[in-house]
Amino acid sequence: MTRDPAYYGGKPIRDEVLGYGSQSITELEKEAVLEALEGDYITRGPTVEAFEEQVAEMVGVKHAIATTSGTTALHLAGRAAGFGSGDEVITTPLTFASTAHAATYNDATPVFADIDPHRRTLDPDAVREQVTDDTAGLVPMHYAGHPADIDGLLEVADEYDLTVIWDACHAFGGSWRGEAIGAQRDMAVFSFHPVKNVTTGEGGMVVTDDDELAERCRRLRSFDMEYSPGGHDDEPWYQVAEGVGYNYNITDLQAALGLAQLDRLEDFKQRRDEIIAQYDEALAGIDGIRTPPEPLESDPMCHLYAIEVSEAFGCGRKEFVNAMHAENIGVQVHYVPLHYHPFFQQEFGYKPGQFPETEQVYDGLVSLPLHVEMSDEDVSDVVTAIENLHEHHLE
Ligand SMILES: Cc1ncc(COP(=O)(O)O)c(C=O)c1O
Repeated sequence: MTRDPAYYGGKPIRDEVLGYGSQSITELEKEAVLEALEGDYITRGPTVEAFEEQVAEMVGVKHAIATTSGTTALHLAGRAAGFGSGDEVITTPLTFASTAHAATYNDATPVFADIDPHRRTLDPDAVREQVTDDTAGLVPMHYAGHPADIDGLLEVADEYDLTVIWDACHAFGGSWRGEAIGAQRDMAVFSFHPVKNVTTGEGGMVVTDDDELAERCRRLRSFDMEYSPGGHDDEPWYQVAEGVGYNYNITDLQAALGLAQLDRLEDFKQRRDEIIAQYDEALAGIDGIRTPPEPLESDPMCHLYAIEVSEAFGCGRKEFVNAMHAENIGVQVHYVPLHYHPFFQQEFGYKPGQFPETEQVYDGLVSLPLHVEMSDEDVSDVVTAIENLHEHHLE
């Protein structure tokens, strides 16, 4: 006989809340940040450059441009790609709003296409149906860290000459066919938010092999300034704006944190993989739970462990989430589809019902806690809470 779920009057399985995601900070990171504080730069300086070089080398691309967030990295990438008024940019509705802002921040129109429900990422056939003469680019997102259909999407991009920006905010540290995620053309974007695979507090990055795109991102990140342009060679103070740039500069303090996290990347991946394997094994036999897809030609470093709960489980997603919260287990849902958001409805006329695969997946989605400081007992609390809830509904 199992205990009553807390949602139905039992005692919560844990006293302390287990978050769905969290950073891991050790003495290594603390020392690195303190050391950076002693340096000459506490804004963007040599440590940012070292961080960029290390990421570029790890991903296997020529350029890495660090920014203040994944969101600002998407903004820069969209602008560097030349997205603008009158352009359409195709992306997935099953993502965070910032993915679409690669278009909207640049006055382009985000055009949603439905997902492949197995991968939960943009379906190349659905993308093809949305292509028009105004389509300028694609922004696929590697949901949870699993790569989108890279081949299929690049084929569409080739056919219609589209610029591709991979939103790889969930996928830092993973690989596809032995090649790092982020190495695929034309640009990819990472986020270093605390719940992501590595963190700089807030932070993001654009990576690319393309010299011109990289140069545009670098310039736009820092005011779009030209320093001592032609005719002013001997006037070092002569800094002039050539366009509307931004201050998306990340600091040496953040980069020091990022570099220390990179030193732990292998351990981070190993621990995430272990937790995922424990969940996979424990949840495989529970009716009404679909575990995440098996990696396809990839070795993903997963930011999320997102299951789908269906009727056979015994209760719907809403009750599942609230029951886990009652147990002090911080599950989350990634994401309310973008065509449900008032902004995208009011600005672009989207409405529920337009993307059936996305909607069906969304209806069951729940992200279970996944972060490297979780103990085996934490994982077991999550699994036991799910088993108890399931059994409660079977009785
Ligand atoms: C898929 C995706 N894209 C973009 C972002 C934006 O990243 P940031 O929070 O660093 O701005 C996030 C962050 O939640 C995300 O999950």
